[in-house]
Amino acid sequence: MTGDTDNKFLNVGVLIIATLLVAKLISTLIMPRSQKRLPPVIKGWPLIGGLIRFLKGPIVMLREEYPKLGSVFTVNLVNRKITFLIGPEVSAHFFKAPEVDLSQQEVYQFNVPTFGPGVVFDVDYSIRQEQFRFFTEALRVNKLKGYVDQMVVEAEDYFSKWGDSGVVDIKYELEHVIILTASRCLLGREVRDKLFDDVSALFHDLDNGMLPISVLFPYLPIPAHRRRDRARKKLADIFASIINSRKCASESENDMLQCFIDSKYKDGRPTTESEVTGLLIAALFAGQHTSSITSTWTGAYLLRHNEYLSAVLEEQKNLMKKHGNKVDHDILSEMDVLYRCIKEALRLHPPLIMLLRSSHSDFSVTTRDGKEYDIPKGHIVATSPAFANRLPHVFKDPDSYDP
Ligand code: HEM
Repeated sequence: MTGDTDNKFLNVGVLIIATLLVAKLISTLIMPRSQKRLPPVIKGWPLIGGLIRFLKGPIVMLREEYPKLGSVFTVNLVNRKITFLIGPEVSAHFFKAPEVDLSQQEVYQFNVPTFGPGVVFDVDYSIRQEQFRFFTEALRVNKLKGYVDQMVVEAEDYFSKWGDSGVVDIKYELEHVIILTASRCLLGREVRDKLFDDVSALFHDLDNGMLPISVLFPYLPIPAHRRRDRARKKLADIFASIINSRKCASESENDMLQCFIDSKYKDGRPTTESEVTGLLIAALFAGQHTSSITSTWTGAYLLRHNEYLSAVLEEQKNLMKKHGNKVDHDILSEMDVLYRCIKEALRLHPPLIMLLRSSHSDFSVTTRDGKEYDIPKGHIVATSPAFANRLPHVFKDPDSYDP
């Protein structure tokens, strides 16, 4: 290379750097500065620091960051930003915003291979809203009243096998009685009476196919996902045949399966077999772990706190004086002490520890000490009932069980 060529390269290099510097200077001086008051960001290694912190567990991260950063802050997860809104002052928008502003669909996509195609987070909001209406109708008080008798049969049958004393694993026992009840009230008599073991095993595979990694990569070709997909297909076949035989025999049962078979969209279209199966799987997923976690914690707290256990038993003795051995929906609703014991277990251990939305428009929040932050669209927005339910400015002695 000659000295001339060297000089040319040098000149071009200097010109490029100078142009970039001038462009940056002009943009800083002339372009309007962003007026946004962005939330503070969790510090960590570049690129993957936030992800590592998040994967260590969101509650651990919140415990460390809330005292430092306050009730609104952002964590960078590689290519996404999650902004946390913690506590009633800043989380109202999270719970009240319409779907066009904060939506569930993108952030809960990882459920699609489990629930199946054409339902819940696989469909757009207008259809999803109608499917949520099917859930709501299937869980209305008049329907619940009909399920209580079946729940009582299951519970009495199950607990009659317990002796008068002994040791049980309360988590295992309550999970079991709840899946039995759910089978009867949700999935229907056919499954409960004839197919319980097969269907439970398939649900087990579906359940085990929902791993932390599945949230980020739901279709990763790993054995757990393959078992999940096989189980989903077998369940679809089982329910297709049950639905068909109910329709052919013009039979009608009092369960959630029947509600979904009978549900109709606004335009009069009935649900398909595949939609009914997907909605049932979604209902079982929504109800099984939430209910068993809540009842296990309630049981554990009552066993720990004799004074509350005695109050619950006293309430039931009084109700038995009034109603005898009868148990129905209205009598259960009279169990106010038990209700408060369950609600307090739910406060301390809400089964869904973190809720997510995807933000489609900018919004602002004001913290309780008056700081204002702008959350830009494109952020994932998160709140954590598990953390917020123990804030000391909201609950006195937040960690103690006090129904
Ligand atoms: C202790 C028991 C339960 C708890 C703590 C619980 C908690 C929750 C929470 C926090 C949400 C909102 C999720 C979000 O906004 O991102 C939710 C939604 C939902 N749950 Fe439950 N759940 C329980 C039992 C059940 C049961 C038994 C069923 C049905 C059999 C059910 C069906 C649903 C459905 C369909 C939705 C979506 C509705 C909507 O977003 O409008 N849940 N649940």
